[in-house]
Amino acid sequence: MSKASAPGKIILFGEHAVVYGQPALAVPVTQVRADVQIDNNSDAGIRINAPGIEFSENFKSLASPHPLAATIKNTLSVLEVDSLSGVTIHIRSNIPIASGLGSGAAVSIALIHALAKHLKKKLTLEQVNTLAYETEKIYHGTPSGIDNTVVTYAAPVYFIKSQPIEILKVNKPFTIVIGDTGYPASTLESVSDVRVQHRKNPERYGTLFSMIGGITNTARRLIENGSSESLGPLMDENHKLLQHMTVSSVELDDLVDTARKAGALGAKMSGGGRGGNMIALVQPEKAEQVAQALKEAGATKTIVTRVE
Ligand code: MEV
Repeated sequence: MSKASAPGKIILFGEHAVVYGQPALAVPVTQVRADVQIDNNSDAGIRINAPGIEFSENFKSLASPHPLAATIKNTLSVLEVDSLSGVTIHIRSNIPIASGLGSGAAVSIALIHALAKHLKKKLTLEQVNTLAYETEKIYHGTPSGIDNTVVTYAAPVYFIKSQPIEILKVNKPFTIVIGDTGYPASTLESVSDVRVQHRKNPERYGTLFSMIGGITNTARRLIENGSSESLGPLMDENHKLLQHMTVSSVELDDLVDTARKAGALGAKMSGGGRGGNMIALVQPEKAEQVAQALKEAGATKTIVTRVE
């Protein structure tokens, strides 16, 4: 039996703009995670069970391109293993799907690690990251690579597409409340809608992206010099720019307003948008009060997480 797990993630600043070469900041969320366990069985082939989503299939019957099939095939190829058989792969995850918490990346990364363990082989984190990025393309079309990077390294990251990863040094820990609208939304769709808008209106969208990039760089400085309590207005400003990009939603806006009224220092949607999760920066002693207000306003789940 071989087991591996990977955390969820949230984007603090810079989603969407990061697809266009701007920087973004993301952090792991260890309160949610994907777990993969590989057991030997007496059958030929590879059985994949994910009871949480009522999925139970044989590897061979998965339609191509399938994210799980591609992850297995690419991992075996990098490990220089011709084939695998007589195994059952169990996938369990409490990361809501299509909600901005990196569920796809976490499942891929836990699966890659579990396969390497099962085969008694080693992979560098760089190899894991590259493999997970290939699968992200199936999930998201043209991903920046931020989700697989933050989940692979399980550390706060300052990320620019196609550039070496930079770990973000959090000088003074801070607290975030995450609120789920309960509406799943496809990142593939929101990213491709932004692409269409950008093509129609390159100047306006180019300006929005670079303003977001500027906010992200300011946020990085505040986090690295111990002034994280000043990130609130930057979150508010980033949210406004995402609204202009049309990737927020009524439900996200409502939760963002609710968090601010309940005492958050700032709030914004997080991830692909149009649904999924929002985040709010809070003083630790206000976390429960903000989480409670979000639930009363319709959040289906809240998570309080400390960024450190
Ligand atoms: C998704 O978590 C973040 C987006 O910026 C897409 C990407 O970076 O691939 C919306």
